[in-house]
Amino acid sequence: MYFIANWKMFGGINSVNSLDKVIKFIKSFKKKKLAKIIYCPPHTLIDSMSKKLKNTNISVGSQNCHEHESYGPFTGSVNCKMLKNVGAKYVIIGHSEVRQSGESNKLINQKIQTAIKSGLKVIFCVGETIHQRKKKLTKKILSTQIKVGLNKIKNKKGIIVAYEPVWSIGTGIIPKPLDLLNTINFIKKRLKNNKILYGGSVNPKNINQLNSINNLDGYLIGGASQVSKKFIDIIKKTYN
Ligand code: 13P
Repeated sequence: MYFIANWKMFGGINSVNSLDKVIKFIKSFKKKKLAKIIYCPPHTLIDSMSKKLKNTNISVGSQNCHEHESYGPFTGSVNCKMLKNVGAKYVIIGHSEVRQSGESNKLINQKIQTAIKSGLKVIFCVGETIHQRKKKLTKKILSTQIKVGLNKIKNKKGIIVAYEPVWSIGTGIIPKPLDLLNTINFIKKRLKNNKILYGGSVNPKNINQLNSINNLDGYLIGGASQVSKKFIDIIKKTYN
């Protein structure tokens, strides 16, 4: 199971120390081989976090990347080469919070191609808005996001897909178990060889319910991942 922490635009240099608890926990955790943990902090913390997590089995990823492979005059942007250089092994692409600022499926596709070429592992986010859900467009939206986002990508196997319904992110609301089961199965039918995660308001209180949906390959966790105790609880409860 994957447990991916997305810290979003939170955290200063001292926040990296909060990982001590997680490192300690995982060292003595009997089922550590089953849990694949990845931290995606803001760009400013990738370097220090990579150093902190050296010699642990916890990896570091970025929350976004630029679509260009090499250096260039793109103010404010960071490319995959730069991310790798400071220790990132993964990159989240297509998060709805980035899509909201105008990132298209086509641009997401370019970013995914670049990331794969550069040797970063991709965490590809898909999900419908509440408006789309109310109009019963969920499957159509997901199909388009997957089709265009992964267009011309030959080796899809290593791509981790995170289903994050936009209406679940930061709201405390999670999909009904049967709805989630069906949506995950819908994605799995299209992407038979990929790990499919769920993201959106995952916390220690609802993790048991989420774990009862037994077709999930893990979680992409926002708010709760910033509190080490909550993050550890989510992992512990998953293997109870
Ligand atoms: P929350 O867990 O804070 O709802 O965020 C989910 C998310 O967007 C992870 O990428």
